[in-house]
Amino acid sequence: MRLLMLAPPGGGKGTQGTRFAEATGVAHLSSGELLRAEIGKDTPTGRAVAGYLARGDLVPDDLLFGLVTRAAVTAASNTGGFILDGFPRTLPQARRAHEIGLELDLLLDAVIHLTAPEPVLVRRLLDRARVHGRADDTPEVIRHRLQVFAEQTEPLADYYRNRGILLTVNADQSPDEVSAAITARLAERGFLSTSIRQEE
Ligand code: AP5
Ligand code: MG
Repeated sequence: MRLLMLAPPGGGKGTQGTRFAEATGVAHLSSGELLRAEIGKDTPTGRAVAGYLARGDLVPDDLLFGLVTRAAVTAASNTGGFILDGFPRTLPQARRAHEIGLELDLLLDAVIHLTAPEPVLVRRLLDRARVHGRADDTPEVIRHRLQVFAEQTEPLADYYRNRGILLTVNADQSPDEVSAAITARLAERGFLSTSIRQEE
């Protein structure tokens, strides 16, 4: 199974990606987490990307593509697929990822598009800031991340809808309800293995 979680900041990419990975055994790959790990290890990539993450700006593709595609290829080989979270998030990234997917026989099976009203997203991120203190969860940077999402990432919904693989799910529900809705949408398309269906 090869999935992409497409959602705004606070939409639940990480929450649902992690749950789905636990349920299926397929690796969850968050581009944001991969970048924060580089920053944490103080690698050259980490030093180069830190300012972008702190401001809520997108990292240039040349600092990101190698990192994410290597992780995706490894995940596909070790766990039979991947759940991408936060990558691709621009049309040029999606087109290039599609070319790489064609070349390596690793095209996406489905894109889970999680939607929720902006005030809900902001409240979740501000709540998370109080608990975890992620550096980009400040009111100003959250506002900017949401704007970047609207301008650069939201158009991907049409891109994947046109390719016939977009599954939109209302994420303004409890995490359990969102997980159940994702499972139901994937099952409708015949994507789920019997093991996850039996757990329900
Ligand atoms: P990234 O780490 O991807 O951040 P983001 O897109 O802003 O998304 P978040 O991680 O904040 O939200 P999420 O959707 O994962 O929600 P979560 O499940 O955590 O990217 C960070 C930065 O990295 C970017 O700004 C950019 O600089 C760079 N970057 C990353 N990818 C890039 C790319 N492809 N190209 C260029 N640059 C890139 O949930 C949020 C909170 O809400 C949690 O506390 C959670 O517990 C809670 N919650 C979740 N679901 C529910 C629910 N249903 N009900 C109640 N609470 C909920
Ligand atoms: Mg996340």
